[in-house]
Amino acid sequence: MNIPPPARTPGAPADATAPLPQTGGMRSSATELGRKYGPWAVVTGASDGIGRAFARALAAAGVNLVLVARRAHELETLARELGAQYPIDCRVLAVDLADRDAMVQLQDCTWELDVGLLVACAGFGSAGPLLDQDPGTETAMVDVNCRAVLQQCWHFSRRFAARGRGGVVLMSSLVAFHGTPWSANYAATKAYVQSLAEALAHEWKSQHVDVIACAPGPVATGFTRRARMQMARADRPQVVAERTLALLGRRHMVRPGTLSRLLGWSLATAPRGLRVAIMGRIMRGMAAPPVGLGSGP
Ligand SMILES: NC(=O)c1ccc[n+]([C@@H]2O[C@H](COP(=O)([O-])OP(=O)(O)OC[C@H]3O[C@@H](n4cnc5c(N)ncnc54)[C@H](OP(=O)(O)O)[C@@H]3O)[C@@H](O)[C@H]2O)c1
Repeated sequence: MNIPPPARTPGAPADATAPLPQTGGMRSSATELGRKYGPWAVVTGASDGIGRAFARALAAAGVNLVLVARRAHELETLARELGAQYPIDCRVLAVDLADRDAMVQLQDCTWELDVGLLVACAGFGSAGPLLDQDPGTETAMVDVNCRAVLQQCWHFSRRFAARGRGGVVLMSSLVAFHGTPWSANYAATKAYVQSLAEALAHEWKSQHVDVIACAPGPVATGFTRRARMQMARADRPQVVAERTLALLGRRHMVRPGTLSRLLGWSLATAPRGLRVAIMGRIMRGMAAPPVGLGSGP
């Protein structure tokens, strides 16, 4: 069932320490994830790819969902599909996470729900020389991949700490561990997320907030189209979501999928400078040629 949020004074600051009503979850059957983290999860980037796979895996585990991304139609279709297939409730928030007031909208949409899990999956990248990229898009990438993730972590983890339990999944990447020429800004945003996740996993341990950084290699999603990137081989988003949820609370980092592990291991012992050069070679091959230079229609 797709349920709208009840009214709250828009933008009113959420009191993270106030007791949270136990609303929602009436239709959820308790599973391990539900028992551990609670009845509701927020999944950003749920309209496509890995985020959608996380939403499906959580729905199958009986967890109610707040589905967040820009494309309302995709989110509503997914909410209907999951609500029909599993005994869960879904709520949809169509918002551009690059917008400065996006976090206020997310707070307003979730303030009365007993959210115990945040999957911050929304993100995008670009491929090619940085100077050929649009500066506005690159700046928005920092907003979506970093600023919005920090705001979500801060807001929900305060709530998790107050309720004594919570889980946070942050999307890192294979490119987070070294500078990556021809995807310089994107790799830098993922280095930020990886570092943030590692530190917060440590910092929030005593508050029983589990944090995991998910660092996949190439995954077959809408990512490549938006990044103008070509991938010869890619892992499946379901593998990424299921493996990450299985390890949440047990590990602080996961390299899900065969390609991620293979590429991660093969680079692990190389000196950092060499890794940068290797990743540059790989990424240069993956960057689609600019329009007008044989990239086709
Ligand atoms: N695919 C890979 O190879 C790969 C590898 C490593 C890490 N990752 C990371 O995995 C995460 C998910 O990517 P994906 O592969 O699933 O890509 P995807 O299929 O393109 O999905 C990206 C999701 O993010 C949402 N999103 C993008 N910009 C947004 C914005 N401004 N506001 C709100 N939502 C926004 C998109 O929804 P809307 O378009 O509807 O807004 C979509 O739901 C990203 O953080 C990415 O960096 C991907």
